[in-house]
Amino acid sequence: MTRIAVLGSTNMDLVAYVSKAPGRGETVTGHEFRTIPGGKGANQAVAAARAGGTVSMIGAVGVDAFGSRLRAALEQSGVDTGALRTIEGPSGTAHIVVDDEGGNAIVVIPGANGTVTTLTDDDEAVIARADLLLLQLESPLEGVVSAADVARRHGVRVVLTPSPAQALPAGLLAATDLLVPNEHEAAALTGITEPYEAAEALLEQVPEVVITLGSAGSLYASRDAGKIMVPAQRVTAVDSTGAGDTFVGALSVALGEGRPMPEALAWASSAAALSVQRSGASTAMPYRIEIDELAEQEKQRKHL
Ligand code: RIB
Repeated sequence: MTRIAVLGSTNMDLVAYVSKAPGRGETVTGHEFRTIPGGKGANQAVAAARAGGTVSMIGAVGVDAFGSRLRAALEQSGVDTGALRTIEGPSGTAHIVVDDEGGNAIVVIPGANGTVTTLTDDDEAVIARADLLLLQLESPLEGVVSAADVARRHGVRVVLTPSPAQALPAGLLAATDLLVPNEHEAAALTGITEPYEAAEALLEQVPEVVITLGSAGSLYASRDAGKIMVPAQRVTAVDSTGAGDTFVGALSVALGEGRPMPEALAWASSAAALSVQRSGASTAMPYRIEIDELAEQEKQRKHL
């Protein structure tokens, strides 16, 4: 089984479902409100655990009711929360508007996530035992950089999702093995909007890149093996929240199992396709058996 450590955020997602998101200064009436466990770190942890990985989560929740619900949600999906601290103060929250086309807009208030600036000895031990370390940027950069350094020292493969987009210290990219931005994050990091060219520019800093392109699929580029475009499956999206996290969680499990990149990307893309057809972030994430089933159907369809 792939052993995965995730250092990242846990947020309670406060989700308003509306026909069309309001513009600035506009008020609209929505049709539903839900609270759903999320956060980019926790989402990747849940996605990887459901996809078959052995997963540990490093991060923090608050002492509030959201905190205990966030911890319980991770545990229900089989994620080890021994390295998830509970701190005085509120848990992270994400304020999300989802429209009828499945698109979203998100404001994150970090809360407890903002305290994860240093690693404990236990955190370091969790990373050292892993095959892969998954990082995103909803936790303070100090903590993310320290975790990447520990992984580097112990030969653990680092997968970085540079989201939310921000300027990165050069050392962080130097410690990254696989960078997985979406097209906007790739453009923010390089100043280049064309994905093939952005991937080329990113390869100057990291050995492998996957740029996720939503319904257009994903573009893999590596210094050694060139570029591959993997199409996304055609599905009707009801909520794209957490689709990128699902993709990264499933991809990491497949890579940890030693599967070749094209196969791992196709499998991760099946996981993401399943997640966008359900609402919520962690609640939408598929289990291994479902991913296997859809990936197999896709394979057969391509051979017809
Ligand atoms: O990537 C999706 C996640 O972003 C949501 O679950 C929300 O918590 C925000 O962090």
